[in-house]
Amino acid sequence: MEYKLAKQLRTAHPTVIRQIFMYACDHPEFLDLSIGEPSADTFPLDEIAKSSADMYKYDGKKALAYGPYPGMDECIEEIRKWMIARGFDMENNAIEILPGSGHGMDNMANTFCDEGDVILSEMFAYPGIQNAARMVGAKLVGVEMDDDGINLEALEKTIQEYGEKVKFLYLCPSFNNPTGITLPEYKREAVYKLAQKYDFMIYEDDPYSRLSFDGNYLKEIKKYDTDGRVVYAASLSKIVSSGMRIGFFVVNKDLRPFLEMSQGNAGVQSVPVMLTVAGYMQHNDIDAHCKDVGAFYKEKAAWMMECIKKYLPASCEPIEPKGGLFLWLKVPETLDLDKVWHKLMEANVGVVPSFGFSADPENYPGSAFRICYSTPSKEVIEEACQIMGRVLKEELGE
Ligand SMILES: Cc1ncc(COP(=O)(O)O)c(C=O)c1O
Repeated sequence: MEYKLAKQLRTAHPTVIRQIFMYACDHPEFLDLSIGEPSADTFPLDEIAKSSADMYKYDGKKALAYGPYPGMDECIEEIRKWMIARGFDMENNAIEILPGSGHGMDNMANTFCDEGDVILSEMFAYPGIQNAARMVGAKLVGVEMDDDGINLEALEKTIQEYGEKVKFLYLCPSFNNPTGITLPEYKREAVYKLAQKYDFMIYEDDPYSRLSFDGNYLKEIKKYDTDGRVVYAASLSKIVSSGMRIGFFVVNKDLRPFLEMSQGNAGVQSVPVMLTVAGYMQHNDIDAHCKDVGAFYKEKAAWMMECIKKYLPASCEPIEPKGGLFLWLKVPETLDLDKVWHKLMEANVGVVPSFGFSADPENYPGSAFRICYSTPSKEVIEEACQIMGRVLKEELGE
């Protein structure tokens, strides 16, 4: 049957990541550094199992019934306490539980964008924001970046170019996906000041900041927010479980009901998940757990850097991550990125070319690969780097 699809879907095509995934399914020996997932080895399985068992034992009927918007009180309260301990202003802000922070981008676009409006992001950004923009008919406009994130002059020029159409700026300021970059505090503050000056919102996507390698946490943009224009979204997907699907907003109290309404029929979160997470947070030290998770990825990232230095041509420059799951490998601009990417796949290595994350792949394909070191073993990382080294040297004529 030929389906009469909505315009937003007629223009959609499989992402680069999806193409790699399909290839990997047919090639069991594939060395996959493209999967942007946390390692399940870091999840607190025993603690979650205990919390879940206790929940069904003591709160079973409640767990199996419908729960309220904006989430179960028990879960909101645990997250609220965590946010207060982290220095968030919880007098003026409220929490809303989400089925993952990815969902929050759709809410944000639904809440603020009409067809033809503009969402700004860094040129290379998490593809979820492209989906959110497309589904509401908004235009995603990428802003040029430096090695420490969004370029402030380019940002202001872009805002002036699109004027009132700019509804919000999407940023993942800490250990960004795809670049691993962390935006310094002076840029966070400057971005907030621009949002005030030109009157637009900011969506601060923060699934990774707790995965700091050295326990250093920069000030979230939300903490500069004096007028309620920053929607802060975080997630437990990289800390507790990606499969349970739980994230949350910290948003101005007056705005929260609108974000809730914009969820349409998709908003009610799973009650057993919320209660299990609440129990976990009540009886365990989530910050101590985050430090352990950060240490796990620190070792992986250090090994990735060592292998890159050992096997890859010197003209390929990694941006060293200080936390999170991703490393951005800059390669010489003379390389045909599409060709190299395909050659790497044929040689059994999966990495994601920068154009897979570009807001404007035709004009700004970039010359980098996203490498994810979170799930592959040390052996896989080393073998993949050896192959990348060989392919890149061939292509560079070295
Ligand atoms: C930058 C970024 N934002 C949001 C998400 C969505 O995470 P979740 O919906 O699992 O919380 C991801 C997932 O990889 C991500 O990398």
